[in-house]
Amino acid sequence: MQKLLGNSIQIIEINDTIKQVAPTDVSILITGESGVGKEVVANSIHELSKRKNEPLIIVNCGAIPEGIIESELFGHQKGAFTGAVEDRRGYFEMADKGTIFLDEIGDVPLSTQVKFLRVLETGEFMRVGGTKKISVNVRIIAATNKDLSGEVLQKNFREDLYYRLRSINIYIPPLRERKPDIKLLFDYFIETYCSGNNLKFAGIKDDAMDFIINYNWPGNARELKNFCESIIVLHPNKVIELEDVKKHLLFDRIEMPRSLPVIMNKTKESYEKDFLFRALLELKSDILDIKEQLDEIKNGHKDNITNQSEDFVIKSDKVKNMTMDEIEKEVLIYMLEINNWNVAKVSEILKQSPRNVYKKITKYNIKSESRWRNI
Ligand SMILES: Nc1ncnc2c1ncn2[C@@H]1O[C@H](COP(=O)(O)OP(=O)(O)OP(=O)(O)O)[C@@H](O)[C@H]1O
Ligand SMILES: [Mg+2]
Repeated sequence: MQKLLGNSIQIIEINDTIKQVAPTDVSILITGESGVGKEVVANSIHELSKRKNEPLIIVNCGAIPEGIIESELFGHQKGAFTGAVEDRRGYFEMADKGTIFLDEIGDVPLSTQVKFLRVLETGEFMRVGGTKKISVNVRIIAATNKDLSGEVLQKNFREDLYYRLRSINIYIPPLRERKPDIKLLFDYFIETYCSGNNLKFAGIKDDAMDFIINYNWPGNARELKNFCESIIVLHPNKVIELEDVKKHLLFDRIEMPRSLPVIMNKTKESYEKDFLFRALLELKSDILDIKEQLDEIKNGHKDNITNQSEDFVIKSDKVKNMTMDEIEKEVLIYMLEINNWNVAKVSEILKQSPRNVYKKITKYNIKSESRWRNI
């Protein structure tokens, strides 16, 4: 199981709290920005509790459509609604004797929140369409990255449920406020990724590490983890330099909205988009360099630059208003161009199967573009 790692005073205190509360049945609210480690804390609490051999059911409340959330959580009786062809147990019944982790609790509709309150207080509920009370013994851990007190003020979250949940509140501060954890997590993520993929880490220069420590990590530990993986993949067997790090952590230079590059759900498709987005950011860095060169040319310092570079300068201005598909297409064309349209090479760099890359080429009709050349 993943432990909550950290040398900072905040993480040491949180680990102490986890040890204190884990053996009890008290419900817990975990708060903090996205990617700070809320799920890691929930897992640790379950693992250190006397329920550890019983199920831990993780429910991402924000991902369940409003129309089916009650039947997912509490189950339904046969015939309760069209399509309910048989009785179905919900997550609360599945978690009986164990723990239920209600992630993104701030996204639960108000009507369902009443039912949560009842389960919290009595351990009882009814299946959708059912008439019989069902009793469960479930420990509840909830998490959110929303400001629940603000949601209460705006009447999006029930005040009684909020106070009931937050009797024990574990708040995980953002990574930028836990500088001592950054180096430790960096080493850990690098080591885990390298050993899992049979890779060797050649090291990192001090100024590059300082930059990492002082960066503000808007996507917190999740962003640091993604960063560690990308940097190893893109710079194998090379000591990481300040410039390599800056290329990845470009956001300050190009003023992108901070939330954009961090894709939160872990589907294959979003990972792919995340990766392409990072490639796009690198592309933007190159464009900025080209722009600088062009400025210098205008000022008479340099005298040769290709038409192709100008082409990409034009593209960079469009990026702000582009959809994700358009960005993906643009990145793909760029990657193909800089790799002489060698699909095998591009798929290797993008960590995609060549089939996938071909599928995208067909999807975006890149073949019909005038820029297309034979592969
Ligand atoms: N202190 C930590 N020690 C080890 N790994 C960590 C730590 N904090 C976060 N991680 C890792 O970072 C990633 C993100 O953590 P996690 O999923 O727990 O974040 P979260 O707060 O639940 O995010 P979200 O609000 O987006 O759901 C995971 O891969 C997790 O293992
Ligand atoms: Mg989470």
